[in-house]
Amino acid sequence: MVSVPASAHPLAPEWLIRPDDANDLADLVWPASATRDPDGVLVLGGSRATDLVEQLGTPVLVIDEQHARDQAARTHRAFVAATARHGGVARVYYAGKAFLCAEVARWMIEAGLGVDVCSRGELETALAAGVPAERIGYHGNNKRVSELERAVEAGVGTIIVDSSIEIERLGAITERRGVTQKVLVRVRSGVHADTHDFLATAHEDQKFGFALDDAEQAVARIRELSFVEFSGLHCHIGSQIFGISGFRESASRVLELHERLLEGGSVPLLNLGGGFGIAYTRADDPAPIEQLADGIVDAVADECQARGIELPTLAFEPGRSIMGPAGVTLYEVGTTKPVRVETTEGVAERLYVAVDGGMSDNVRPALYGAQYSARLASRTGDDAPALVRVVGMHCESGDIVVDHEYLPGDITPGDLLAVASTGAYSAAMSSNYNHVPRPPVVAVREGEARVIVRGETIDDLLARDAGLPSPALNKGEK
Ligand code: LLP
Repeated sequence: MVSVPASAHPLAPEWLIRPDDANDLADLVWPASATRDPDGVLVLGGSRATDLVEQLGTPVLVIDEQHARDQAARTHRAFVAATARHGGVARVYYAGKAFLCAEVARWMIEAGLGVDVCSRGELETALAAGVPAERIGYHGNNKRVSELERAVEAGVGTIIVDSSIEIERLGAITERRGVTQKVLVRVRSGVHADTHDFLATAHEDQKFGFALDDAEQAVARIRELSFVEFSGLHCHIGSQIFGISGFRESASRVLELHERLLEGGSVPLLNLGGGFGIAYTRADDPAPIEQLADGIVDAVADECQARGIELPTLAFEPGRSIMGPAGVTLYEVGTTKPVRVETTEGVAERLYVAVDGGMSDNVRPALYGAQYSARLASRTGDDAPALVRVVGMHCESGDIVVDHEYLPGDITPGDLLAVASTGAYSAAMSSNYNHVPRPPVVAVREGEARVIVRGETIDDLLARDAGLPSPALNKGEK
């Protein structure tokens, strides 16, 4: 039926390489521990995918705990070492928005990181997990007064202020309590990272932070306040960024302001945010974190030297690059359907593979057109690679799980399917769309599996419905 050579499937995007073996597990895309047992079953952190599913059902988000811990420690080491070479000090905060629960917060603390939170819920999770308050950075463009109160009361290390109104609110809260609060001022450097391109605009048209031109006044105001202590500038240029040129450009602009601010007092710290890209498919080629850390820190140190200013303490906030590659989502294949598509080269066929999850457990393909990689998890397949689109079970045609992938042509209902690099911004952005319960999250390490976030049940969903007599509905169904 396919009227062109299989090596150049007319429906395949250029970046998608047709593998010789569609059972292989590409380096960087799959967690470090991913392997197959002699039966071809995918093994993660020493646990067989089939055993995990037998215990927990599908979908389930599996986190390779050692991978996440190693990546956190490695990232911390890389920035500390890169900065130490210039006689400086670095701090690394894990960006909890990528995926936060008590266990993950503890892994980060044990690896030497702090935690960056951006909501009351993330703040309370970190505090309840035992994260020392002084190692928390609190972000947000619209924190409620009650939330600022809570942060000050808890002794949060740094609040990243985002507006003049927030500065006044914090001034009043700290004055009333007689407690000093350290703050960073978030600025827009005008460098907008669009994965590979850096578009420089005078004033970015977006909600976060202060324009560079306005920040000086904001800092002057903070310096007038008795209980708000100015600790430095913060700038985050974007996410899933490859290379260092955007960071270099942004740091150079922010340091220009930093130098001016030194005239009015000390500026101890510079936080350059997160955003380091990961491999969702083998077409992505992220540099090792050590290389990025060295490149970014060297650029900042050079710029400081050129300006004749002292290297401030540097801070970074990676989320995705720590948790993303550690996660794999397991689904069960429910139906497959060959779909014939007219192309300029004739009629081509794409195999649709439908799984028992979708945009409720990972909205990134639907929201951003994000690409992912998939492999059979319960066995290897024998047939030649077929071009597939993995779709979910939601009532929307945009409910795509993996847009383009080659999988063994004999993929069939009942197979388990693994989707890689789902550790960041999948569970964190999950929803109950179509009244689908959110899956459990399980950490695997050395053959042991521990549920770190319980899966929702139908009862959980019904329990929130105020029109139902909730306790009577406990049937325990998933
Ligand atoms: N710091 C700040 C101030 C941020 O806004 C972010 C991400 C980070 C750190 C962490 O960035 P990362 O290292 O994880 O790239 N939902 C989107 C990503 C949104 C990121 C928002 N801010 C996605 O799924 O791609």
